[in-house]
Amino acid sequence: MKIIVTGGAGFIGSNFIFHIMKKYPDYGVVCLDKLTYAGNLSTLEAVLNKPNFRFVKEDICDRTAVYKLFEEEKPDVIVNFAAESHVDRSILEPEVFLKTNIIGTATLMDACLKYGIRRFHQVSTDEVYGDLPLDRPDLLFTEETPLHTSSPYSSSKASADLLVLAYHRTYGLPVSISRCSNNYGPYHFPEKLIPLMIANALNDKPLPVYGKGENVRDWLYVEDHCKAIDLIIHKGREGEVYNIGGHNEMKNIDIVKMICRELKKPESLITYVADRKGHDMRYAIDPTKIHKELGWLPETKFAEGIKKTIEWYLENRKWWQTIISGEYKNYYEKMYGNK
Ligand code: NAD
Ligand code: DAU
Repeated sequence: MKIIVTGGAGFIGSNFIFHIMKKYPDYGVVCLDKLTYAGNLSTLEAVLNKPNFRFVKEDICDRTAVYKLFEEEKPDVIVNFAAESHVDRSILEPEVFLKTNIIGTATLMDACLKYGIRRFHQVSTDEVYGDLPLDRPDLLFTEETPLHTSSPYSSSKASADLLVLAYHRTYGLPVSISRCSNNYGPYHFPEKLIPLMIANALNDKPLPVYGKGENVRDWLYVEDHCKAIDLIIHKGREGEVYNIGGHNEMKNIDIVKMICRELKKPESLITYVADRKGHDMRYAIDPTKIHKELGWLPETKFAEGIKKTIEWYLENRKWWQTIISGEYKNYYEKMYGNK
């Protein structure tokens, strides 16, 4: 079996590559990644020299490069993680989100049609469903919840989902889609809530909480997400959407306080800053379908996962310190400088 993993030098893609290469040592894995600001080749150090692994630095929007790779590798399965993934950046500059997340996905699917594959899997997000109110804990996102997006990021992901389903219906492309809630764990880029708060707390810097910190996210340890995708590409039905989430809703402020406690840092570091524009209030996934059809259940409890994650950031300071001392500094100043 040969799998092309796009965006494999990013957070979830790299964790997925590690999972697949450990569980299926006879599979060939090709990582196609443009190495944008979010991609980091050093993340893949442990697998770079393995004979059944190949890294290719290309853009998923580059049709010639993508077709050449498909011709060379003749993959069976494509798992598309490649995306611009940060909501705040999409609010500052939407265009690249449309290009990578929509055109890039279509380009990959065109290659799948031209060369033939067994499965194209699109890694999507719960953000395509928009948000839920805080005072209706009974409401959860199911696969039937209408798409109702808030940010340029989520709109670009929803557009890609619609295209994926259209390629299935129109051309019969064997596709599947997963819509997962917020992930956390090793190699999470320090622009996102959990790693940003860990890095800032360790540097005794302010912890910028948007609005009142009451927004709720449904957190899942990254390994559990990878296991769910593994199940979908091997046993999931073609043309289907699967929600992935672990019933772990938490307010942002509670997460930030928990990080302060774990790192023995004072809560006085918490600074309430201007809210995100169009900020989604609450996400909550109903994972009944993937549980019933594929037997998936999350394995890592949040209390354990957050400890493991903090431990990882303590033990891998070089990885994130290199990031926050480079080009990322300009983004941080632009984003938080006058908040
Ligand atoms: P990330 O930003 O950490 O990584 C994205 C990767 O894609 C990077 O390695 C980057 O270099 C690469 N990339 C970007 N544009 C590219 C292009 N044009 N061509 C080739 N490679 C390109 O993202 P992540 O958090 O790992 O998310 C991966 C996927 O999972 C995304 O599609 C995202 O929408 C989805 N998702 C993320 C979460 C989450 O909590 N992080 C939850 C649900 C779904
Ligand atoms: O739900 C899945 C989505 O989760 C993925 O599709 C996205 O790719 C991923 O980035 C993530 O989106 P969020 O916007 O939920 O994640 P983020 O870490 O940016 O923010 C989480 C919450 O924390 C959100 O309510 C905004 C808030 N926040 C974030 C940052 C970066 C803060 O209060 N302060 C911050 O500095």
